[in-house]
Amino acid sequence: MCGGPTSMAYTSPALNVMVAAARKAGRPLIRDFNELENLQISMKGPADFVTSADKRTERILIEELSKARPGYGFLGEEGGAVTGADKSHRFIIDPIDGTTNFMHGIPHFAISIGLEREGQLVAGVIYNPVTDDLYTAEKGHGAYLNNKRLRVAARKELGPAVIATGLPFMGKEGHARASAEMAEVMNVTAGIRRFGSASLDLAYVAAGRFDGFWERSLQAWDIAGGLVLLREAGGMVSDLNGGAEMLTQGSLLATNEYLHPQLLKLLKSVKA
Ligand code: IPD
Ligand code: CA
Ligand code: CA
Repeated sequence: MCGGPTSMAYTSPALNVMVAAARKAGRPLIRDFNELENLQISMKGPADFVTSADKRTERILIEELSKARPGYGFLGEEGGAVTGADKSHRFIIDPIDGTTNFMHGIPHFAISIGLEREGQLVAGVIYNPVTDDLYTAEKGHGAYLNNKRLRVAARKELGPAVIATGLPFMGKEGHARASAEMAEVMNVTAGIRRFGSASLDLAYVAAGRFDGFWERSLQAWDIAGGLVLLREAGGMVSDLNGGAEMLTQGSLLATNEYLHPQLLKLLKSVKA
C-alpha cells in the first residue's frame, strides 16, 4: 500500500545517480513509444524482440552511470558482464523490461537498475517512462513510489489474493509446468495476472497491488532492482526451492510472510 504524502524517499547519492540515469534514458523511450511504427526492429530469437530503443537505452544508462561512478562493473541484458576497476560494485540493468508490451504499444514496461555492493543488492530503481512511475528503494531505508512509502499487502489467506506470474512463450521451455502451476494457483486464489514485466510485477507486490508473484527462468537483470523494493516493502522472497538463489537460479516467489509458505508449498507440490 502507498503511505501518506509525508513519507519522502530517502535518496543517497548513489540512488540519485541511478534515478537520473533512468530518467535520461527514459525520455527518448517515450518518443519511440509514441512512434512505434518507425522503430528499427531486429529479431534476437522467437518472440524476443530487441529494438534499437533497447540498445540505445542500455548505452545511455551505462554512459550516465559510468560518468558518475567510474570503475563500477555492469551486468546488462544487451552488453552482458563488464568487470570494472572497482570490484565491489556492480550495476545490474535491464534497459526495457517488458519488451513485448513495448512493441505492442502497451504502456507497461520499465527500465530496471539494481546496485550490488560486495555481492549484496543495496539499491533499486524501476522506472516506467510512459506513466512516469518511479519506484526506488535503498537497503535499510524503505521502498517508495514517487516518494510515497510502499508496503506489501497484509492478506493472510490465499482466497482473496491476486497473484501475478510470468509465462514462457514460443520456443521457451516449461509450458507444461507453467500450466500446471497456474491450475493449482487459480483454484485457490481470487485470480492470476500476467502483465509482462517482471520488474513491475515485483514493484506491484511491493506496492501491495499484487499479493504475490512467481516465475521461473528469469535473469538477474529482470529482478535485481525489484528484489530491493520487495524486501524494503516488508515482503518475503525466495527461489522456488525455498532458497535465496534468485539471481543465479532464476526462479522466484515474492509475497508477504503469511502467503509465502502457503504458495511455496503449493508450487512445490506441482508435478510436471
Ligand atoms: C521479460 C519480462 C517478462 C518475463 C520474462 C522476461 P524482457 O523481460 O520480464 O515479464 O515473463 O521472463 O524475460 O525480455 O521484456 O526484458
Ligand atoms: Ca527483462
Ligand atoms: Ca529487456
